[in-house]
Amino acid sequence: MAYLVTGGTGFIGSWVVKSLLERGHKVVAFDWAPGRHALDQVVGKRADEVTIVQGDLTHMHRVIETIREHKVTHIAHIAAAGLTLCHANPVHAVQINGLGFANMLEICRSMDIERMVWASSAGVFGGNWGDKPVPNDAPFHPRNVYAGLKILGETLAAQYHDAYGTDVIGLRYSFVNGHGMPDHQGGRMIKELCEKTALGQPATVPWGDDTPDWLWGGDAGEATAMALEAKPTKVRALNVPGDSAPMSKAVAYVKSLLPDADITVQPGKMGFSRFDGSVTEKEIGYTPKWTMEMQLRERINRVREENGLPLVG
Ligand SMILES: NC(=O)c1ccc[n+]([C@@H]2O[C@H](COP(=O)([O-])OP(=O)(O)OC[C@H]3O[C@@H](n4cnc5c(N)ncnc54)[C@H](O)[C@@H]3O)[C@@H](O)[C@H]2O)c1
Repeated sequence: MAYLVTGGTGFIGSWVVKSLLERGHKVVAFDWAPGRHALDQVVGKRADEVTIVQGDLTHMHRVIETIREHKVTHIAHIAAAGLTLCHANPVHAVQINGLGFANMLEICRSMDIERMVWASSAGVFGGNWGDKPVPNDAPFHPRNVYAGLKILGETLAAQYHDAYGTDVIGLRYSFVNGHGMPDHQGGRMIKELCEKTALGQPATVPWGDDTPDWLWGGDAGEATAMALEAKPTKVRALNVPGDSAPMSKAVAYVKSLLPDADITVQPGKMGFSRFDGSVTEKEIGYTPKWTMEMQLRERINRVREENGLPLVG
């Protein structure tokens, strides 16, 4: 018996792997570009316990072979085309996030997978919600192909559940932060705010007028593991909030840890929102554990430790 994590060597996939290993599960990571960077950063030595399978999820037979060979009972379907690929090559993105996702549901249905938990996104709601937390059943407002394909996923998942009894739960992660984070978009912001400041380099932080919902990778991994193990849920897709805190507060916190930090804050907004997690708490028991301060301190101290500098905070 094993748990399959698609995208299991990527950023969030590695945090999901960590939570599953800690719960004593046998884990198979399926990824089309398997690398050890994120797994090593997140899971450390225990990454050796993970069975890594190279494969493209749009090749249905490859997923089926893997499930048969490793006797997979549960799936965390984390792999997807991200914002950049959706923008650069919408056709390919539809193949992965649309057709590939439908294939995964068909596999669950026909191979009696006990449950699949998959990565939707808080992006389904669009931005412009201001201070009001976005409720779990808020209307969708896709701003790009990426969000549109996550909405297609939620629609397909509801159909498979209602018509065929497939046990599937989508998790709408907000802005995930943590070790192993890719260097694009939010990753670039964290690199400036935590990595450059940790090393005493000048940093330029974007979105100074915004309020990110800081979701620690460990909380995202825990939410995923909890959803895989929860009793059957009434709701098919759940918000996964973190700690909503203004960028100005984050910058002030970093300066309190590193008083000499040279930080230029750029004005503007990325379009973050806050998310209501009350339905999620009721359904799977998840609440975020990591505050913005804990997250930034951890990221700064990891860099300082790696560079032989004294820890802060
Ligand atoms: N990072 C965030 O803040 C965030 C927020 C909301 C939702 N999500 C969703 O979480 C999931 C993981 O995101 P991430 O930030 O860890 O990205 P990531 O790029 O680090 O991880 C995705 C992994 O999937 C793999 N992959 C992509 N296409 C594949 C395919 N066709 N077959 C097999 N493997 C494939 C990639 O190689 C990569 O390792 C995605 O579904 C993303 O849409 C991410």
